Amino acid sequence: MSEQPVSVAIVGMGTVGTGAARVLVEQPERIARRAGRPVRLKHAVVRDVKKSRGIELPAGVLTTDFARVVRDPEVQIALLLVGGLHPGREMTLELLESGKDIVTANKALLCEFGGELFARARELGRTIAFEAAVAGGIPIINTVSQCLAANQITSIAAILNGTSNYILTQMIGENWPYRQALAQAQSLGYAEEDPTLDIDGTDAAQKLVILTQLAFGVKAQLTEFPRKGIDTLELSDLKYAGELGYTVKLLAVARLIAGQLEMHVQPTLVRHHTPLAEIRGPFNAIALVGDVVGETWYSGPGAGQMPTASSVVADLIDTIAGRTRLTFPRLEVWRDPPPYAVQPREKTSSRFYLRFNVLDQPHVLADIADILGRNHISIASVIQHEAAGSDNADRRTVPLVIMTHRTTVGNLESAERELSRLQSITPPHVRMPVAD
Ligand SMILES: NC(=O)c1ccc[n+]([C@@H]2O[C@H](COP(=O)([O-])OP(=O)(O)OC[C@H]3O[C@@H](n4cnc5c(N)ncnc54)[C@H](OP(=O)(O)O)[C@@H]3O)[C@@H](O)[C@H]2O)c1
Repeated sequence: MSEQPVSVAIVGMGTVGTGAARVLVEQPERIARRAGRPVRLKHAVVRDVKKSRGIELPAGVLTTDFARVVRDPEVQIALLLVGGLHPGREMTLELLESGKDIVTANKALLCEFGGELFARARELGRTIAFEAAVAGGIPIINTVSQCLAANQITSIAAILNGTSNYILTQMIGENWPYRQALAQAQSLGYAEEDPTLDIDGTDAAQKLVILTQLAFGVKAQLTEFPRKGIDTLELSDLKYAGELGYTVKLLAVARLIAGQLEMHVQPTLVRHHTPLAEIRGPFNAIALVGDVVGETWYSGPGAGQMPTASSVVADLIDTIAGRTRLTFPRLEVWRDPPPYAVQPREKTSSRFYLRFNVLDQPHVLADIADILGRNHISIASVIQHEAAGSDNADRRTVPLVIMTHRTTVGNLESAERELSRLQSITPPHVRMPVAD
């Protein structure tokens, strides 16, 4: 082992940066042994040096001066752990230009600017490692790009947002409405004050874009595939799904179907007691099928300070040891032309869970069944509970739940246009796919 230390900088000492610094400070011998050289944390860049970080760093390490890192020729690797797109993009480019390799956890940055940043890094002979950008502590990036390199991945079905999974678990487990479960997630630190990107499906979709790049060589835009979060889900739908034998999960899916790539992020019915259905609380899980290996599963903490730091520091060790230099140029990303087109939304097919609010009167089910049938949608099962006090209630609405056989989104959308003209249905209605 060389005694010559490698100098690194952390840019962004928030949740993840502080976790990474803690591992470096608390486990220097372990890191040095595995990297082949001691690691010296030379700079840690923040916006506010007075903020308490809960970690003791040597004097002079904490700074607000990002340029100090860029100018320091001793710094070989920067852990870029600020969130958001800007100035993350500009910082990454400056660091690459000044000869640093990058380790990052910023999925939004890679989803939006990955093509540009990877191309520049390759031109400059530098590397970008990003294990922590998808599924926090689960080593899925290395798994897809290295451990399963003999395979063509054919399917990814994943729970990639722990916040949403925690909220769904609490709703069904505690009989809570969405708002109450969200408030609990916020009070426990599983959801941010502004939880929008987690609960509207954006965070999971950004991670799916990165996984799709690695697994299929396809750069999908966020706008190219359907994305729906859990923010409009009602507890009653989770319960009806349960009656039918399913758990609702925010599922990110990418799979090859007839030479095209089907992609979506949406609340999805997953059959009870399957591995994905069993993932409870703020955890992530990924089901991955390869044409050589078959089906494989990965689960664990998808976020949080130390699980994410685990991936960041592993990337740092790989970069120091020279492994990233071997793998980065050969990642199957941003291939031109892309080997698969993203399947048009209307061609996506599955079974579907539908819930309508209907007037409790004769012929309603027959009218709906007729419209579905004319649009090539056949019904597998129906739930309609008697409305409380329905004997004397006049024209009250009741929920009608229908499970369909396999059909396409195009057929459903065409049926929905006709159904919206029925006086006996009160909008909105609910539609969720079923994972088979
Ligand atoms: N948190 C997780 O569990 C998790 C998991 C996986 C991936 N990630 C990703 O990791 C990245 C970091 O997340 P986080 O939760 O650690 O964020 P965070 O707690 O908000 O920390 C961000 C840090 O960046 C610093 N910063 C922001 N803008 C800066 C600027 N212009 N110049 C210098 N410093 C700046 C902040 O400084 P101040 O402290 O002085 O404000 C703060 O220390 C994000 O991309 C996130 O998506 C997070």
